[in-house]
Amino acid sequence: MFHLFKLFSQDLIKYLAVLIWGLFSIIYIIENGAVLNAELIEKYQYYFIIGASIILIERTIYFLKYHRFILLPYSLSLYNRVADEQKESKIFLDKFKKYDKKTNTYFFKNRLAIDKKMYIDSKDKIIHLLGYEDKNEVEFEIKAHNKKEIAIRLYKLPLKFNWHIELLKDKKIYLGHSKNGAYFLPLENLTSCITVGESGAGKSNFLNMIIFSLLHNFNYIDKLDFIDLKGVELSRYKLNNTSFTDNLEQVDKLLEELKNEMNNRFAQMKEKGDLIYQGKYRICLIDEIGTIATHYDKKLKEQIFNNLIEIGQKGRASKVLLLIFSQKIDSTNIPTNVLTNLQGSFLLRTSSQFNINNSIGLQEEIEEITRTRVQDFPKGRIIFKDGLTSEKILLQTPYLSQDIQNSMIKYFRSWINK
Ligand SMILES: Nc1ncnc2c1ncn2[C@@H]1O[C@H](COP(=O)(O)OP(=O)(O)OP(=O)(O)O)[C@@H](O)[C@H]1O
Ligand SMILES: [Mg+2]
Repeated sequence: MFHLFKLFSQDLIKYLAVLIWGLFSIIYIIENGAVLNAELIEKYQYYFIIGASIILIERTIYFLKYHRFILLPYSLSLYNRVADEQKESKIFLDKFKKYDKKTNTYFFKNRLAIDKKMYIDSKDKIIHLLGYEDKNEVEFEIKAHNKKEIAIRLYKLPLKFNWHIELLKDKKIYLGHSKNGAYFLPLENLTSCITVGESGAGKSNFLNMIIFSLLHNFNYIDKLDFIDLKGVELSRYKLNNTSFTDNLEQVDKLLEELKNEMNNRFAQMKEKGDLIYQGKYRICLIDEIGTIATHYDKKLKEQIFNNLIEIGQKGRASKVLLLIFSQKIDSTNIPTNVLTNLQGSFLLRTSSQFNINNSIGLQEEIEEITRTRVQDFPKGRIIFKDGLTSEKILLQTPYLSQDIQNSMIKYFRSWINK
């Protein structure tokens, strides 16, 4: 409390000094450079009193409103220090700088340099101090800002909500809700991707959600090929522009065909001098790729994986893409060479550090965008790593009930199959 009062007094003195200096300059100009005398002071004293009152009221309100944030660096010892020649170190406390109402972001500054890691490590303390008791409710993003600032953004992600048809948009793929609302990826920015998450994390729900966006954009897509050796979920679509495969020989044939298609497209591009293929997309979706690796036929597997590597490597320019889903991504489930050639990734709930490290990256990078541990993610919570920009975005995907899925499949049949 004493510290707050000290800061308040300092702040007030600063503002009053500015006021006095400003008034003095104005008087000086108005009175043509006359020296300040008792008469002039009397004449202008009310301006000073009014100005000072406004400042006092405004600053008091400000300090009352933001006292938690103003005190935060002090309460959590967020500071930087320099040691001078005399070996006496001087402390520079971080300072609350401003609040941006539109994005619910708080900015802190340090005159020396600011330590982002300190804020990341104090996440839970910060939340507690700010009075957000219910841990699950508030999400938290800590970003470096300018040179010496930190931006803390507080926001909420819905836990469970239903999918609805307004989430379909032309030339865009809906990926879930981010801190800014519905998040759409432009179709042209889609890359080959891996989606990883343990059983029940919501992969298949997410897969169907992406399929809806893709089908909605079927004018730009030649064909969607579904592969699932484990289940029949994807066989439900039965559309003119979709295929379903649950047999390894057929998978091999399909990927061979896709690779040839890709190479044909490259030949056309070369002829026309195009850097990006001008025609429609071919997108292959594989649910539970781990089932391929467990197959006994070594030669077949090798062929399949080699084609996956090649398509992953060169597919984007020719608009031949792979969307692969898996519970685990260690080399027994998906060969490392296949994995490293998928540019984008989606991480759902998993307790495997290997899955986390090899899809999104370091623990620290994840802590910057969420304070929920990946193993505690609710169903449908996803970190998306953009395949082009490597930007990481926290998303919550909506729930697709059986009814919605059935009616959407019917809906797509009614106009794609007509
Ligand atoms: N976004 C979501 N919001 C709420 N509930 C969800 C969401 N996604 C999935 N669920 C629920 O979780 C259950 C499991 O989801 P899903 O089948 O998508 O998991 P999965 O990751 O594909 O699991 P598996 O690896 O075993 O196939 C679903 O039946 C559904 O009830
Ligand atoms: Mg599944």
